[in-house]
Amino acid sequence: MDKQFLNFPDGFLWGSATAAHQIEGGNHNDWSEWETSGARITHLKEQGRDPSDFVSGKACDSYNRYPEDFDIAKNLSHNTHRMSVEWSRIEPEEGKFDWQAIRHYQEVVKAIRDRGMEPFLTLWHFTSPVWFAKQGGFLNPRSPELYKRFIRQVVDNLKGDVKLWITFNEGTSIYAGLGYLKGTWPPQHKSLLDAYRFRKNIARAHILAYREIKNIYHPLPTALQNKSEVVSHNVEGSVMVGAVESNLWPVAGIAGKLLGMEELFQKFGNEWLWSRTLPYQDFLGLNYYTIKRLAGSHGALSKQDHVPEMDWEIYPEGLYRQLMRLKRFGKPIYITENGIADAADARRAKFIKDHLAALWRAIRDGVDVRGYLYWSLLDNFEWARGYEPRFGLVAVDYATQRRTIRPSALEYAKIIQENGFETTL
Ligand code: FCB
Repeated sequence: MDKQFLNFPDGFLWGSATAAHQIEGGNHNDWSEWETSGARITHLKEQGRDPSDFVSGKACDSYNRYPEDFDIAKNLSHNTHRMSVEWSRIEPEEGKFDWQAIRHYQEVVKAIRDRGMEPFLTLWHFTSPVWFAKQGGFLNPRSPELYKRFIRQVVDNLKGDVKLWITFNEGTSIYAGLGYLKGTWPPQHKSLLDAYRFRKNIARAHILAYREIKNIYHPLPTALQNKSEVVSHNVEGSVMVGAVESNLWPVAGIAGKLLGMEELFQKFGNEWLWSRTLPYQDFLGLNYYTIKRLAGSHGALSKQDHVPEMDWEIYPEGLYRQLMRLKRFGKPIYITENGIADAADARRAKFIKDHLAALWRAIRDGVDVRGYLYWSLLDNFEWARGYEPRFGLVAVDYATQRRTIRPSALEYAKIIQENGFETTL
């Protein structure tokens, strides 16, 4: 097979993603309470684990070290950076906003801009303030309004530097399942009804936030502001608002296919939020990591090479197929996360290239993909799995907070500099 240079569109965004609770350190929110709760510690000890590996604690200390982190991203040629703000810092008590925290985030987004990168800002990435969680979190019927009041402060104060907003990270595709159905994440409910209520409120909160953000940038005449059917028009190139979901490529055997299992998974797992709120999505934020095996899948697809640290099978073709499927929504797409936990850095560069080749084919075949963000810039606190999985382009020594650039980060930098790379398809 001949080698071919895969060229990406002009203006393509290249970078990496992080989330506040996973890197900042020193957060006090519903997750930190859960991490340190007696029940959690007992559970970890019973599994023979050291509970201290599963407490976010100081994390990467990025609340203080962000200038150093962004210098690294800039030196690696990134032209965008995705981060999240921590609600519990901004509104530590209900209705009381901490102006120091807001100023901090103003400085952070400015630091991204000053380094020539486009800030991509997530407003909710899994964590909530303790007072909000105590009122039922997103099960509370008031939650969409409470969330809207929080995001209004953030957007109002950061609007000068941010054009790309993400309302929710994987709210319906991941959090509803792990937090409310399987109960492996806080608040550990195991209730189909709660999972459903959570999803409904996330969808409502997304719509409220979308309208609020648009209205902050381009106010509608007062008479129209509360009319649910009126959405402020999108001024091209000004501000874009969307929700991020995780999509797993579903694979079933013949019987499963006949029963429509893959389609059900697409509709109720992957696409549930987007399809219900489509007029309020300027883009789809797609996190793609792996596949979802359904009944009889092994006959349809043999066991793929897998990431031992997460037990995820690697299947770049799933990214191509999912993008081709999402084309039907007619919205621009950003890959807001894609990555591999690989402490030895033995497979990361290939993982990135294989996924980028799939992405390139989707663009060639008509999908409007506008950016790729690797997860993650740094090794960080991987939720219930603690510090073991190492997703970073940059390794972190948690004892000293020393950052070390991994070789794959340099290969990714080269791809960015050339806006493409040579490969065989
Ligand atoms: C995604 C999360 C992100 C990170 C990666 C590995 O589901 O959005 O915070 O944990 O998985």
